[in-house]
Amino acid sequence: MGFDLDFETRRALGYKLVDRLNDYYASLRDRPVQLPVGQRPAGHPSIELPETGEDPAAVLDGLFDELIDKGFHTPSANYFGLQNPTPTYMSVLAEALVAAINPQLASLVHARLASQIEQETVRWIGARVGWTRPFDGTFTSGGSEANFTALTLALASRFPAVVEDGLGGLDAHPVFYCTDEAHHSVDKAAGLAGLGRKALRRIPVTSSIQLDVGILERQIQQDEADGFTPFCVVATAGTTASGAVDDIVAIADICERYGLWLHVDGAYGAALVLSDRHRHIIRGIERADSITMDPHKWLATSMAAGMVLTSRPETLRQVFATSNPFMPKVQGAAAVDNFDLGLQWSRRMNSLKLWLTLRVHGRRGYEEMIDRQMALAGNFADWVRASGIFELAAPPMTPSVIFRVKLPPSASDDEIRAANEAVVREVTDDGRLWLSTATVGGRPVIRMLVISYLSGERNVDDLKTALADAARHLPDHGEPDVVTLSRRAKASVTAA
Ligand SMILES: Cc1ncc(COP(=O)(O)O)c(C=O)c1O
Repeated sequence: MGFDLDFETRRALGYKLVDRLNDYYASLRDRPVQLPVGQRPAGHPSIELPETGEDPAAVLDGLFDELIDKGFHTPSANYFGLQNPTPTYMSVLAEALVAAINPQLASLVHARLASQIEQETVRWIGARVGWTRPFDGTFTSGGSEANFTALTLALASRFPAVVEDGLGGLDAHPVFYCTDEAHHSVDKAAGLAGLGRKALRRIPVTSSIQLDVGILERQIQQDEADGFTPFCVVATAGTTASGAVDDIVAIADICERYGLWLHVDGAYGAALVLSDRHRHIIRGIERADSITMDPHKWLATSMAAGMVLTSRPETLRQVFATSNPFMPKVQGAAAVDNFDLGLQWSRRMNSLKLWLTLRVHGRRGYEEMIDRQMALAGNFADWVRASGIFELAAPPMTPSVIFRVKLPPSASDDEIRAANEAVVREVTDDGRLWLSTATVGGRPVIRMLVISYLSGERNVDDLKTALADAARHLPDHGEPDVVTLSRRAKASVTAA
């Protein structure tokens, strides 16, 4: 059998896939995230390199059974985990279309229309940021590439010679800043850009998990006094572990005072630009020089889709423009070839899934989703406050709630961590629900994120019940006050 399947085979395989996907989507509101402990496959049964092919329908059936029946389902409405959404169905269709047409987004010659759609999507999002000055941007494989790209823009803006001469030609020692809670892709970016990870100063957060601007300013002054050259601050809009948003306005003021590039890592939280009601949470984002935003997180596209946007559009070409001897140029085109705007050459059309979702559901579709998720998470946080057995670790700023088992003040963080882990283990053991533990501000927490647009009150209620049940099974702590508190808390949970 050659690769060129006949008309009927293509059709039959396609319908088989669509039917399975449709069944899968129909199951997602109730689907357990995974199989119960003990039934989870240890791994994929290893297969030797196939010398000859097999029947495609049988191979697909086997794959569905494995991935769907035995897999881990972040798209489930019962998944309250990391920033992995239920992909919009428009994303799924867009991905199929892109896979088939396979536009090579490197250059306009091969993908003029696709490039225009990409630029249009950048324009829609940049306008929602609130930029009235010129801006530009490009799609990336995700937030890590976007953060790396932004760092190179910041560096080239401050030290234009590095693009050709490298850091070795500098007689400055550049340093930049983010919080202890910023994503580790910023460390990677520092290393990859040649600055070295030590050039990244991690600033502690306040009790509301926001960058401590007082410490930031003192650190900048200290660095300047020590002969370093601060050039950039990375604010996070929606941290990975807690969903907290830094005070972007205060950070923008500092950047202005010291002449620093402001990058906002809004891989998760920059989605709030699409909500009129909640965009105040990220106020100040319009003062950013660059922004990372991941449609494959809160905007519910399938992976992968990241974006880097910049209000200093000239820097994109400054860093990425090269010449190439093998690709013709579109004569007279106003638009720039994509390979001059980013790291990738061969490049997938990652924008279509966002563009198509926006075309079909509109900005208001996202606004409604964001409002609903904020309300669900707010209600969950209220339940935590009232439960008596759990306590909030910080008030939620996004639909991400961090809380912990409430033990008496004498309990150590190790004891709290052990209690958190016992609760999460019990809640996730039967496979129905998923949430996780984390460390935020150096302290143990349980982390719950409303990320699926399918999650509703029923799913959150199931989670509350499972958490309360698990808390009931925690052993009493042994100290008299703990026993009392624990009994009181259990009684209040039972009454709830
Ligand atoms: C705040 C933040 N920045 C960057 C990233 C990296 O994004 P990606 O996973 O798309 O590379 C993440 C991922 O979780 C994130 O939460």
